[in-house]
Amino acid sequence: MESHYIFENTKRVTVSTIAQMKAAGEKIAMLTVYDYTMARLVDAAGVDIMLVGDSAANTMAGYSTTLPITLQEMMVYARSVVRAREHALVVFDMPFGSYQTGLDDAVSNAVSVMKETGCDALKLEGGSEHLDVVRRFVECGIPVMGHLGLQPQRVNAYGGFALRATQQAEADKLKKDALLLQEAGCFALVLEKIPATLAAEVASSLSIPVIGIGAGPNVDGQVLVLQDMLGMSGTFHPKFLRTYANIGEQITKAAAQYVADVKQSDFPSLEESY
Ligand code: KIV
Repeated sequence: MESHYIFENTKRVTVSTIAQMKAAGEKIAMLTVYDYTMARLVDAAGVDIMLVGDSAANTMAGYSTTLPITLQEMMVYARSVVRAREHALVVFDMPFGSYQTGLDDAVSNAVSVMKETGCDALKLEGGSEHLDVVRRFVECGIPVMGHLGLQPQRVNAYGGFALRATQQAEADKLKKDALLLQEAGCFALVLEKIPATLAAEVASSLSIPVIGIGAGPNVDGQVLVLQDMLGMSGTFHPKFLRTYANIGEQITKAAAQYVADVKQSDFPSLEESY
């Protein structure tokens, strides 16, 4: 069992650090991570928050939406990330079905995640629809990150993954929900795939940090899905994505070289043998 005595490590990012960053005007860098090896590398790079996102359903399990992934699967990923973490705050993304079936179920699932993974905080999608859940988690001492704008768990209701809040009514609801989430005690808010002007307005009106993905530059921080920014997601290339490396290409090239070496009896050499 890993130690969860986080406050022995003064360099560890906490929710207080995140609040101070907004106050100081320091941008927050968040990336999704789902496994030990990547978490070790990303944590060493100085990322502030590692999100064990339910996008694991896409990147790790190959589903076309985030809906099928279970709490238990997510908890396996989360434990691996926490084992690697030395610096970053680790946030666990509550998957579809883990907080929609009633307050007691939601609290029971949240408590299991906090006890059994060692994550520092939870994220959940939705505004006014799930305020009671947010309030209960906060009352239990569990830090909560909200998520508005495109909520991938609602893809069937939307009919796709298009830009959200382009119409006044949805933009007004988003602004209202952002305020409600702040009042309910969220320590931060993710805004996904909405117009940059709307995101900027929300970020400047809230005292909690707003972290954007496809929400423009005038928010308090940014998040990207790790596999996407590393060029490992094939043809998936939305406008908001900046590709920082072509690791996917390098992996395929390295694996192909290995295949060729094995086939030609080029590997292992005598120097690589006992
Ligand atoms: O699951 C995820 O990767 C997310 C981010 C896009 C914020 O929720």
